[in-house]
Amino acid sequence: MFQCRVDSVVSPAELRDAIAVGSEEDAQLASEDRKRLVAKENQLRSILMTQKLIPPGIRGPLKFHLKPQAADFLGGPFNGQCFRQFIFIELLNISKFSAIVETGTYRGSTTLFMAKNTTLPIYTVEFDPEHFAFAKYRLREYSRVSIKRGDSRSFLKSLSFKADDRLFFYLDAHWREDLPLAEEVDYIVNRFCSFVIMIDDFLVPGDAGYSYDDYGPGKQLSLRDFPFHKNSKVNCYFPGCPSQLESGTKRGCIVLASDDMRKDLESVTSLSLMS
Ligand SMILES: C[S@@+](CC[C@H](N)C(=O)[O-])C[C@H]1O[C@@H](n2cnc3c(N)ncnc32)[C@H](O)[C@@H]1O
Repeated sequence: MFQCRVDSVVSPAELRDAIAVGSEEDAQLASEDRKRLVAKENQLRSILMTQKLIPPGIRGPLKFHLKPQAADFLGGPFNGQCFRQFIFIELLNISKFSAIVETGTYRGSTTLFMAKNTTLPIYTVEFDPEHFAFAKYRLREYSRVSIKRGDSRSFLKSLSFKADDRLFFYLDAHWREDLPLAEEVDYIVNRFCSFVIMIDDFLVPGDAGYSYDDYGPGKQLSLRDFPFHKNSKVNCYFPGCPSQLESGTKRGCIVLASDDMRKDLESVTSLSLMS
């Protein structure tokens, strides 16, 4: 009997059994039978994908297999933005980070890119149980990647780094009314002394071609509502490339760096220091 679990991720064998449609003998079926089988399979796919009774811990891996195009729904790693991917690679090459932390895993596109392009341990957190299960299954072969389900604020507090560890943060847990960004940044800035924080979906001053998130009064992801430039513990950087030359969904971003990272960031060509 196939057991449904809510927060855990099914094994490949369980998954195979659960979605097994037909067998080797099917290959010998006459073409009419084959067509009927394909129609049945498609019907099963849509039932599985719409059936909310299937617990998220199983729906996530099922979606990974049955709807592979869902994996890169947001355009791919870093929203499918080549220049942003380059910023990440440049930062990682220049600063000797000891770990990467991401908030808002979603389906693990950016996490996978980070895992493929670095050898660092990666810690990521996702609130939604189905996205969590999807990403956990997608990244199951990367033992360096630790994916937790929960709220980004408590997740950050649970990380057991030393205050002087050199850390790269990618803050992308914004999708709902409840916006954890201010608390995430406050915690990182006051807890650590060597950090670089990249915040996705942030307004890039002077370049309207980069889009950004706005969740209503006081919740626009911009320096107006999040005045990081007034915080003496951080230096602010924006993409050094105009939006016309960026690819993918052209989401804006801001990069915040602690003072002791400033020297390293002087040689990062893909970022401009806010003066
Ligand atoms: C824009 S998506 C992240 C995309 C992902 N970083 C990528 O590049 O593929 C935002 C995700 O953050 C999650 N999220 C929103 N608020 C959260 C919170 N407080 N803690 C953890 N995850 C959260 C959402 O469920 C959603 O999956």
